[in-house]
Amino acid sequence: MRGVIVGRQGASWLIARPLAAAALALSVGACAVSAHAAGAAPLSAVADPATWPALQPPLAVDPAIERRIDALLAAMTTEQKVGQIIQGDLASITPQDVYDYHLGSVFNGGNSSPGNDEFAPASAWLKAADAFYDASMRPNGKLVRIPSIWGSDAVHGHNNIVGATLFPHNIALGATRDPELVRRIGAATALEMRVTGLDWTFAPTLTVVRDDRWGRTYEGFGEDPAITASFAGPLVEGLQGRIGDKDWLRGARIIATAKHFVGDGGTTGGKDQGDTLASEAELRTVYAAGYPAALQAGVQVVMASFSSWNGVKLHGNASLLTGVLKDRWKFDGFIVGDWNGHGQVPGCTVDHCAASVRAGLDIFMAPDSWKGLWHNTLADVKSGALPMARLDDAVRRVLRVKLRAGVFEAGRPSTRPFAGDWSRLASPEHRALAREAVRKSLVLLKNNDGVLPLRPGARILVAGDGADNVAKQAGGWTLTWQGTGTRPEHFPNAQSIWRGIEEAVAAGGGSATLSTDGSWKTRPDAAIVVFGEDPYAEFQGDRADVAFNDTRDTLAMMQRLQQQGVPVVAVFLSGRPLWVNREINAATAFVAAWLPGSEGGGVADLLFGKSDFSGTLPYSWPRRADQVVLNKGDAGYDPLFALGFGRTLATAGNLGALPEDGPSADRAAPGTLFTAGRAAGGRQLFIATDGMAPQSVELAATLPSLQARAADRSAQEDSRRFTWTGPAMASVLIREPAGRDLQREANGELALIIDLRVDAPPTAAVPLMMRCGDGCAGSVDVAPQLRAAAGKGWTRIAVPLARIAAAGADMARIDTPFELGTAGRLDLTISGIRIGSADGAR
Ligand code: BGC
Ligand code: BGC
Repeated sequence: MRGVIVGRQGASWLIARPLAAAALALSVGACAVSAHAAGAAPLSAVADPATWPALQPPLAVDPAIERRIDALLAAMTTEQKVGQIIQGDLASITPQDVYDYHLGSVFNGGNSSPGNDEFAPASAWLKAADAFYDASMRPNGKLVRIPSIWGSDAVHGHNNIVGATLFPHNIALGATRDPELVRRIGAATALEMRVTGLDWTFAPTLTVVRDDRWGRTYEGFGEDPAITASFAGPLVEGLQGRIGDKDWLRGARIIATAKHFVGDGGTTGGKDQGDTLASEAELRTVYAAGYPAALQAGVQVVMASFSSWNGVKLHGNASLLTGVLKDRWKFDGFIVGDWNGHGQVPGCTVDHCAASVRAGLDIFMAPDSWKGLWHNTLADVKSGALPMARLDDAVRRVLRVKLRAGVFEAGRPSTRPFAGDWSRLASPEHRALAREAVRKSLVLLKNNDGVLPLRPGARILVAGDGADNVAKQAGGWTLTWQGTGTRPEHFPNAQSIWRGIEEAVAAGGGSATLSTDGSWKTRPDAAIVVFGEDPYAEFQGDRADVAFNDTRDTLAMMQRLQQQGVPVVAVFLSGRPLWVNREINAATAFVAAWLPGSEGGGVADLLFGKSDFSGTLPYSWPRRADQVVLNKGDAGYDPLFALGFGRTLATAGNLGALPEDGPSADRAAPGTLFTAGRAAGGRQLFIATDGMAPQSVELAATLPSLQARAADRSAQEDSRRFTWTGPAMASVLIREPAGRDLQREANGELALIIDLRVDAPPTAAVPLMMRCGDGCAGSVDVAPQLRAAAGKGWTRIAVPLARIAAAGADMARIDTPFELGTAGRLDLTISGIRIGSADGAR
């Protein structure tokens, strides 16, 4: 599918696509359309609530609370009411904003934190909680005062806080099949949130995931709706307490959110925020399976899903949000939106969307868009586009939850029970609980010749990049959104898997050595190799297949150890089951360890036989890399290990050699545009200038004002050096074989990240662009960043995609994801270009 640039037309470089490729692109488009129209009966996107089981509210309406709401509503201005239904993100909001716009809540997205410091101490969170609360309560003329609340993604412990307990991610909890364990984890998480003064978690995730290519597979408890249904109630009760108990929603408990309603795990292709094509019966019985139990347990908030059902965005689907959830199921809490999710409803933008509220949304999650949204929503109420009755109902729901939770009486966050009691963060009890969860969640897939348990008196080699790497064992949603960009010192209360092994072996009188690359001097009795997926969250984790991408040559290392006669115990860290036949073959024992979190010691407990394995697969394990939709009960179900599989130490029998043919093991990570000296993923690197044929850059290429040649960073010719001499404008660019839709990537804080060294600073403007077809481009001048980088050696610049979009790029059809040019002089060497989270680039 490689094209050749043939010239420049208008503002964009023209590339002639070989005919066959163009025809293919056309037929793929046609195919997508007809698939949608396929199947005689078109799938409806309007639910019939009568076909859903009727539920009774778990707690009767409290007349005293409703009277207080009546009084508040009567006293509130329309401006105040609008404020209650909008929440802004910490990165874009100040306490003064909460005061001025009467905002009812704030939240911190995965990358937002007090003072913009992802690693701010817990005390800074409590201080910020006080500041937002105080702003909402500060006298303001005659206006009634309504305390604001703060929501956060505490999805595996209070994971945004340095030093908090990091519980295993939900996929691991699914493997325990232990609802009571999950209840205790909910309670521990709630307590740690209270230490920092927060009121509300965006958890539990009740997704039922059917296509494991989805980057959020690990946020689900499994593919089996029954697992999700069995966890939903206990987890909600762990977080919120039990209805009727004195501590319900207060004391050590918090407000919980069931998310993402509904069908988030069923999108076509496992595409994040995609479309779930399913009959209403399937939506009800598979994807919605966890909700009735969560509602009966009293969950106070439901988050609408980013995704669509049969082509209609959930944020605009009245039949589901209002018809099913509120009317049929009698849900009387509130529905919160997802991150600017309302902006995807047809006819809406992120700062204007009455349609979503009309459909049933009660609070907009409007991270950076809250201010425009506030003004426009106010205007909609005044014009009648948003009926006052609907606004009043939304506000009533928000106030009801606040009153139930006692926020009006609770006082400043720092004065509430447990606030500021830092000893409760990662307390010995919580860490022991997390370690218990690790022990119960590991799944033993292979144990040939009974190599496990290992003797703690043995000589143990510990290898693999995951061995001494808490960030990797914790996964996404850990301190940062993607779980990247952290350093070991950000995990003061955690134990790496290596440290746990070292401790067990020291206690057993053996010896343990850490050697990440697997080399050794004294022959070990066995090697433990810890490896797997690097952290990711949401769509950054979406994949084209379910093959493990071995970017670190771990397989070769395991094979080397095997040839040396050293038995290999593989500990695989991953957010989903992946095709790893070659790695399984190279290991004598193989353990699926998921994303265990802060307590690496739980792994050693099992490897050295302190406890037996009891975890069983919450997802079916693929036999082939193309088994992307693999769920028990499907026609032709043919997994390598079925849902529910898991050995104990007593299970007899060896696993024979598995077929090894499958995708090559060293594909570039998704989002990578340029690495190892070449454009990745079938793309091509060019240099170009007006009036001349563009040159493809393999090793070197020359134009009158720009020269490209190979350079070394950490390996021979792994980089390219570009020297601009002027005066004609010349550019280096990467073309997509087919246009690419980057809208999802641009909604958030992903950036175009360039690893580079600047040897001579620019003498003129240096536009960095993305192009989107003829005459369409978004351009940002990076000359200041390059000047700042000059002479500093290897460094990195990052330009947010949102800035490039704002500068005019149509992110729906990017054909040139990278173009950097200047008419001046400049000398720089590039080792990597990717689209990714700027986490580590700050
Ligand atoms: C995610 C939600 C999360 C929210 C706030 C969204 O992108 O889909 O699960 O609660 O961000 O961080
Ligand atoms: C935020 C996440 C959010 C995501 C949505 C990120 O910048 O930190 O919380 O889910 O954007 O795209």
